[in-house]
Amino acid sequence: MLIKQAADLRYSDVTPKSLYLNRRKFLAGVPAAFLAGRELLSPSARAFAGTTKLQTVKSSLSTTGEKITPYDDVTHYNNYYEFGTGKEEPAELSKNFKTSPWTVSVEGDVAKPRKFSVEELMKLAPLEERVYRHRCVEAWSIVVPWIGYSFSTLLKEVQPAPKAKFVAFETLYDPKQMLSPFQAGIPLPYVEGLRLDEANHPLALFCFGMYGETLPPQDGAPVRMVLPWKYGFKSIKSIVKIKLTSSRPPCTWNEVGANEYGFYSNVNPNRDHPRWSQKTERRLGEFFKRPTLMFNGYPEVASLYSGMDLIKNY
Ligand code: MTE
Repeated sequence: MLIKQAADLRYSDVTPKSLYLNRRKFLAGVPAAFLAGRELLSPSARAFAGTTKLQTVKSSLSTTGEKITPYDDVTHYNNYYEFGTGKEEPAELSKNFKTSPWTVSVEGDVAKPRKFSVEELMKLAPLEERVYRHRCVEAWSIVVPWIGYSFSTLLKEVQPAPKAKFVAFETLYDPKQMLSPFQAGIPLPYVEGLRLDEANHPLALFCFGMYGETLPPQDGAPVRMVLPWKYGFKSIKSIVKIKLTSSRPPCTWNEVGANEYGFYSNVNPNRDHPRWSQKTERRLGEFFKRPTLMFNGYPEVASLYSGMDLIKNY
């Protein structure tokens, strides 16, 4: 998303994912003693402290017929700028991120504003396992068994006031644990927003886990949004504040470059990013590109945008 100077580029930035993962698999086969003391230990040697198993129920909203992306890819190819701008940096730099105790404040235009602990949030509804396609604006995609429930459950709990039209989200910003905005290259805290009807759509997932466990830090622990029909940057991580508002809230990437990143940012192969095509995408771990689908293949959200020009409202 950021344009990098040649000096900033890392191997992973210029090498197709499949090639450098193969290199990792090769390295995984090299005796550990040979690699000891080097930066390039096998991925399985990098465990994430603190993830725990979660009990889940099956979901009727789960996407079927897709091959699940390996856990190792989903946890080592991340965008989490508070922990680095390189794709492999968040896994390393977020290792000691403190995600407990954690509270989420739900405030603004609601009848029942309240601070919830994550434990309280996790008990609001049965945790569902939902497989979703997730596509990044940078044209890579993943298929992940996320764990959570529809965000509408939380909205029901706090009762939006009639004048509430939008939902604003905010990530924790802790300069002791995270990079500075200068280092991250974006203003912090990271903020995002949705129209209230988008946030109320059953597919909008309030997410606590993936692959049967709680989220690891680099994927947004302890609680994030997952919005499968939108580009990945709308799916804000490590949420501490949710505010219902009558006016459209600011969104980090839209503030950074409004002509590149719109408020809606629905996946749309017919609307190219000014610097690259959005017609195709590469699934992590695969070599050949595949066509990108309108709304990322979730046509059930189309009615949210009826009558809107989705080229203008990108
Ligand atoms: N949330 C925060 N707080 N900070 C970020 O940098 N990156 C976004 C989004 N949420 C980001 C964030 C972007 S650009 C993407 S593509 C997705 O997280 C990536 O999610 P993943 O790393 O779990 O695949």
